Amino acid sequence: MAPQIKEIPTKPYDGQKPGTSGLRKRVKIFQQEHYTENFIQSILDSITAKGATLVIGGDGRYLVKETVQTILRIAAANGVAKLIIGHDGILSTPAASNVIRKYKADGGILLTASHNPGGPNNDFGIKYNVSNGGPAPENVTNKIFEKTKTISSYKVVEGEKDLDLSTLGAKQFAGMKVEIIDSVKDYVQMLQEIFDFDLIKSFLTTRSGEFKVLFDGLHGVTGPYGKAILVETLGLSPSVVQNDVPLPDFGGGHPDPNLTYAKSLVDKVEKDGIHFGAASDGDGDRNMIYGKGAFVTPSDSVAIIADWADRIPYFKKGGVKGLARSMPTSAAIDLVAKKKGLECFEVPTGWKFFGNLMDAGRLSICGEESFGTGSDHIREKDGVWAIIAWLNILAAANRESPNELVGIKEILQKHYKVYGRNFFSRYDYEEVPSDGANEMVAHINQGITSKSLIGSKFSSKSTGETFVVSEAYNFDYTDPIDKSVSKNQGQVVRFEDGSRVVWRLSGTGSQGATVRMYVERYVDPSKGDKELTRETAEGLKGLIEVALEISKLKEFLKREEPTVIT
Ligand code: G6P
Ligand code: ZN
Repeated sequence: MAPQIKEIPTKPYDGQKPGTSGLRKRVKIFQQEHYTENFIQSILDSITAKGATLVIGGDGRYLVKETVQTILRIAAANGVAKLIIGHDGILSTPAASNVIRKYKADGGILLTASHNPGGPNNDFGIKYNVSNGGPAPENVTNKIFEKTKTISSYKVVEGEKDLDLSTLGAKQFAGMKVEIIDSVKDYVQMLQEIFDFDLIKSFLTTRSGEFKVLFDGLHGVTGPYGKAILVETLGLSPSVVQNDVPLPDFGGGHPDPNLTYAKSLVDKVEKDGIHFGAASDGDGDRNMIYGKGAFVTPSDSVAIIADWADRIPYFKKGGVKGLARSMPTSAAIDLVAKKKGLECFEVPTGWKFFGNLMDAGRLSICGEESFGTGSDHIREKDGVWAIIAWLNILAAANRESPNELVGIKEILQKHYKVYGRNFFSRYDYEEVPSDGANEMVAHINQGITSKSLIGSKFSSKSTGETFVVSEAYNFDYTDPIDKSVSKNQGQVVRFEDGSRVVWRLSGTGSQGATVRMYVERYVDPSKGDKELTRETAEGLKGLIEVALEISKLKEFLKREEPTVIT
């Protein structure tokens, strides 16, 4: 039977509003009749689908392959000209961003719930990226959401067998062109143009006995990318890569590179005395850098990459146009910007806010406290990029100081000596009742709008420190390029000594509410090594107590301890 285009009647589903990073829900929700189809059709109705070229790829989690077949049927029925699909339906998020840009596609559909657990009882997600390779801006996601509210039918091709995603090359699907591409090749080529691979290779091979490396794919999408770069390109032994086979349920783990969830990395680094350990998340856009006894906070990581940028060929050649961070991220990068005379932007949480600045040529390097680091080479944060950036910096630092072994710890200490240290920590309270979370927000708002917080003194019972509030506000952002306004992006309380606390509700959870509390305290280099090298938890103890007191968090959320501390 020749393929036929059919119009299938459907009804809108509630709640198909894309969050910080697309539509993210439990797998079971996506498996409801017409649920996924409705959303795909709404995406195609919000763009010019006819004649478009779209990139399709996911992080290998449960439901990716089936959803690629669904997209093929709906895209062909809607007159899409061409789909570029990753091998077996797999592309890391940064790789997809690169492919969209490199092949000048009109956009892409990414199938991922990022660092959320996968499998039949966990999460799935669908995210639309636009032609610059970045997440769709709010005007597009709002349009998609509006369509989902009124959809009455979707178009689909019937009578066509599933497309074989396991062989590379040009194919046809119901009259639509399809290209199945190697998921890794373009990405590795891009990194080779950005970093000094010769320098990294020579450092890693000449110091191989003294400088041990470990990459943990956490059974997410980056295993094959890590292997292609560290083993096949840089010549390291295959044992430097672990958990490198992408699994539909990530091996039952939580594919999030932080001290709690990347335990497999932390344990091995400590046990085997590894100097450079790194992990990425389910879809490959996050990263964690962790060497023996030395954890790099994402806020410090982006500041250090910015500080050392002239050792990275991409920035040496193109220069650094500007720096940026999300609002809750520590101000370590601001200090680098100030010293180097660069513009530095503070944007709301969410990588999409960096895109306009990059497209306007005002931003080169940016990062978020949520383990996201990247640059204008693509329009997503990039886990493997950050990891190779660190190796490039370490290789350069060792070339410059040939008589010592410069590791992560030495780089950090050197940085603190020059710039001071922004102690930073985030407390997450996951899946708390929404009512309690909203009451907490209202309580803080009361202090903000009545101005009663300003000038108030709070003392820590355990450390005796006193903090006096100097400012309290809701963070609103006006995009410097398109002037769009994003309101209520987090509540900020600043203190006279420069310390700061931020509260925000997560935009990526799939169940209940998640409250995040971010604390930051700056220590001047003149305070000396003793103060600069303290444990983070110790350096922030007093401030955390005060933050809990101001927000009455424990009362409102009925939780004694956070779910995760990063
Ligand atoms: C995703 C986005 C990040 C953002 C994070 C915030 O990972 O890609 O850019 O920082 O979500 O998540 P949250 O749960 O704090 O809203
Ligand atoms: Zn991710």
